[in-house]
Amino acid sequence: MSLTDLLGRRHAVRRFVPGAADSAALDHALHAAVLAPTAFNAQPWRALVIEDATTRAAVSGSVYSSTNVGEAGHLVLFAHLTKAGALALDAHAAKVAAQRGLAGAEAVRKLRDGYARDIEGKSPADFNAWARAQTYLALGLFLAAAAEAGLDACPMEGFDAARLGDALDLTGRGLAPDVLVALGQSAPDDPAARWPKIRQEADSLILRV
Ligand SMILES: Cc1cc2nc3c(=O)[nH]c(=O)nc-3n(C[C@H](O)[C@H](O)[C@H](O)COP(=O)(O)O)c2cc1C
Repeated sequence: MSLTDLLGRRHAVRRFVPGAADSAALDHALHAAVLAPTAFNAQPWRALVIEDATTRAAVSGSVYSSTNVGEAGHLVLFAHLTKAGALALDAHAAKVAAQRGLAGAEAVRKLRDGYARDIEGKSPADFNAWARAQTYLALGLFLAAAAEAGLDACPMEGFDAARLGDALDLTGRGLAPDVLVALGQSAPDDPAARWPKIRQEADSLILRV
């Protein structure tokens, strides 16, 4: 099936088959997220695969959605790093230089200076907005690859961020939450499976200027 056919068929699940999990499919979707392009290849996002039962219950309790999140096979939180310091830019510059065959400390320093100017020069608010935007790219590929692997999903921004943060010690990890994704198998009584795909006409979204 083509990617666009898959995207036309996937839907945001409202009701999951309780406990239906598929770890291989989840790994496939996570791999796609890891391959997502990011500015400077900095990858300022993290995906927290929530496995511990007590943590899962606390996370599920923070969600506003009517979807039966607690019964999904998997729960994954996409979050972004809140501080540039967490990006380990020295090591990143050295790795990129080595990858490109750029020899010497001077080449590494030049790359490092470029990152410093752009990434470290951002205000805290701008850094967070930038990191968040990169996170959604990873999320998009994750959702597409989950659909490819036959894993149904519901992405959710509707949660109590403080409660979710406490459940996962997000502050301690230097993270801010973006989107929680429940994954599994859409249930036979999932109403969303029968809803027609609603999208604006392409011409109203795509402006050829
Ligand atoms: C970033 C993002 C956040 C979303 N947040 C929620 C949410 O909090 N609760 C919910 O029930 N659905 C949420 N959704 C699902 C959307 O409502 C759904 O994707 C949209 O209506 C399009 O329907 P479809 O995905 O079935 O095509 C979210 C989707 C995205 C991409």
